[in-house]
Amino acid sequence: MNSDYIILLVDDDPVFRDGCGRFLQDSGFQVQFADNGQDGLKKLEESAVTIVFVDYKMPGMSGLEFIRIVHEKYPNIDILMVTGYATIENAVEAVKLGAYDYIAKPFYPDKLLAIIRKIHEKRNILSHTRLNMNANKLSFIGASPAMRKIFDIVLKIAPTDSTVLIMGESGTGKELVAQGIQANSTRSEKPFMIMDCGSLVENLFESELFGHVKGAFTGAVAHKPGAFEMANGGTFFFDEIGNISPNVQAKILRAIQEKEIRRIGSTETIHVDVRVIAATNKDLRREVEEGRFREDLFYRLSVIPIYLPPLRDRKEDIPSLIEFFISKHSHPRKRMNGIQSEALDLLTQYDWPGNIRELENLIERACVIEESDIITSENLPSHIYSRRSSNVESLSLAQMEKRHIKLILVRNNWNISATAKILGIDRKTLYDKIRKYKLKGR
Ligand SMILES: Nc1ncnc2c1ncn2[C@@H]1O[C@H](COP(=O)(O)OP(=O)(O)OP(=O)(O)O)[C@@H](O)[C@H]1O
Ligand SMILES: [Mg+2]
Repeated sequence: MNSDYIILLVDDDPVFRDGCGRFLQDSGFQVQFADNGQDGLKKLEESAVTIVFVDYKMPGMSGLEFIRIVHEKYPNIDILMVTGYATIENAVEAVKLGAYDYIAKPFYPDKLLAIIRKIHEKRNILSHTRLNMNANKLSFIGASPAMRKIFDIVLKIAPTDSTVLIMGESGTGKELVAQGIQANSTRSEKPFMIMDCGSLVENLFESELFGHVKGAFTGAVAHKPGAFEMANGGTFFFDEIGNISPNVQAKILRAIQEKEIRRIGSTETIHVDVRVIAATNKDLRREVEEGRFREDLFYRLSVIPIYLPPLRDRKEDIPSLIEFFISKHSHPRKRMNGIQSEALDLLTQYDWPGNIRELENLIERACVIEESDIITSENLPSHIYSRRSSNVESLSLAQMEKRHIKLILVRNNWNISATAKILGIDRKTLYDKIRKYKLKGR
């Protein structure tokens, strides 16, 4: 595990730096040194550091400030806080700011190796569950076999010019996949044009897509290049392609096949080099069978078909998605540290009709309204309780009772009398149970 890790030691104490540095080098790591935060940031720009050890107390920039900056700028670097001032508050603060862990001086060198090994294991797992898209820092999370297969396909086909058809329910990540293909292709520096076919009025479609010359129709007061032409050299993403009329389908087919377009009102043909990606949440094959979608365009688009399964069919992805969205949406001033296991259970049982978008929105909301630094079941919206599949085999009677009481309370807006009546118990018993199970309203 050693040779490809570059470790940066940031500490103003030369004795510690040299001692630790020599030990890590002897263990096979490449080591870089800095004696303050500023210098450390410079080193990070110069080499591809994997792990940073930073002292808590340094002249100039503090260790915590350094951690905050590094975590924001280089989310993939693991940061360890080293300190002689071991207090729990420092540890918590450092971890809140994005540090991976915390070591108190003095420590045995073996401790360093143990921590590095832990980081190594974590990185190994993550490298399979996360595809980092080159350019725009896109992260694509997924631990399920289905998603890993999709990562492989995306990476394999990205550098080619093949046309891709991405299918999947709303919110499953179709646009993210399209961006991922572009970001990992040789066209990544070129334009990525998105046309939302669902929202475009039919008679504007052609001029938006192909452009027009001055005077081509009333209102065409100037020459205007179309979106397809502007994507030249890059990628064109037809979103919701299932929504376009047969008339427009024919025009798109011609443009893709001939790699040529003509602005409306012009006789000149313009060559365009674009890679086409299309997405739809409809069953296009069925649309073809029922005569609403041209068969030839369907085959032209689906050279490489990618099907994104709904989230309810890949529940293994839920925990890592939640962890990812927590770190994406937790506010720097109010960092969230995770999710309570009961809340995680509920979210795993829920069937997610809005897929990943719905999950992301829920976590974003929870990060805002949650008062503690962890997401609790108390603050989840009530439909999560009612719209979950019936996977209750693993619950004890007490857990079932707690959940059921919570569900009825939430549905009745915490009206004690109404809840007690439905549950068939008196108010005092209900109060006792609320206390026993530590149930809380919002
Ligand atoms: N595997 C994933 N990892 C991380 N984030 C994801 C993943 N899939 C989707 N998302 C996020 O979920 C949200 C919805 O994804 P996206 O817009 O790509 O879905 P879509 O299939 O295009 O949905 P729609 O059909 O509604 O347009 C986005 O914020 C996206 O970044
Ligand atoms: Mg979309």
